[in-house]
Amino acid sequence: MLETKFVKGYFHNLLSWDELSYLINIRPLMSSKRVQILNLDKRVEWDNTIWNADLNCIPPSIIRSLLDELVIYFVDMSRATRNINDFAKTIEDEYGRQVDAHIYVCRNLEIEHPFGAHYDSSDNVIVQCEGMTNFKVWDEVKPVSRDEINTKLLMDSEPILDVNMEPGDAIWIPKHYPHQATSLTSRLSVSFPLSSNADTSSVREDRNWITL
Ligand SMILES: [Fe+2]
Repeated sequence: MLETKFVKGYFHNLLSWDELSYLINIRPLMSSKRVQILNLDKRVEWDNTIWNADLNCIPPSIIRSLLDELVIYFVDMSRATRNINDFAKTIEDEYGRQVDAHIYVCRNLEIEHPFGAHYDSSDNVIVQCEGMTNFKVWDEVKPVSRDEINTKLLMDSEPILDVNMEPGDAIWIPKHYPHQATSLTSRLSVSFPLSSNADTSSVREDRNWITL
């Protein structure tokens, strides 16, 4: 069982803006399945050349404008860098579950976070990489309503945790614990969701790292 906690300076240099820009310039990596855009209210279209192996990859000028306007997160990124891969492995080993890495970017402080206060169906470990984010966490919701997962909640109790996360800081948020992230500056963070207790699969991501 994952317990709520906050650790200052837990892991430095997990991911930088520079490393992220390298990744998002690799067009084949920016498949529409991997790029999750919150509050997108328009259809995004682009042209492909005859050489594009995957027609569902978003070109860089669109990624750029979405990054400037909206909250974006990239899923299936647990092998994006060696540090992220290694970090995911430590969590897999500690909790015995499958772990992904979701890279969150918010560069527009004017927009309201689309999730607001909400709870998830998976345990999460979140590492702040760049900028500052305020995180509030409230005590576990009981009973859990399936319909409420990932929807905005109105919280009237005091949070059990209220912290400003700076680069290197990490927070552990168990499933069904409402939480709210408010970007105080442009921010980059990586969230590591764990598969549920019920999923007892012994399959693990191959964490070997190729060096040549
Ligand atoms: Fe969440």
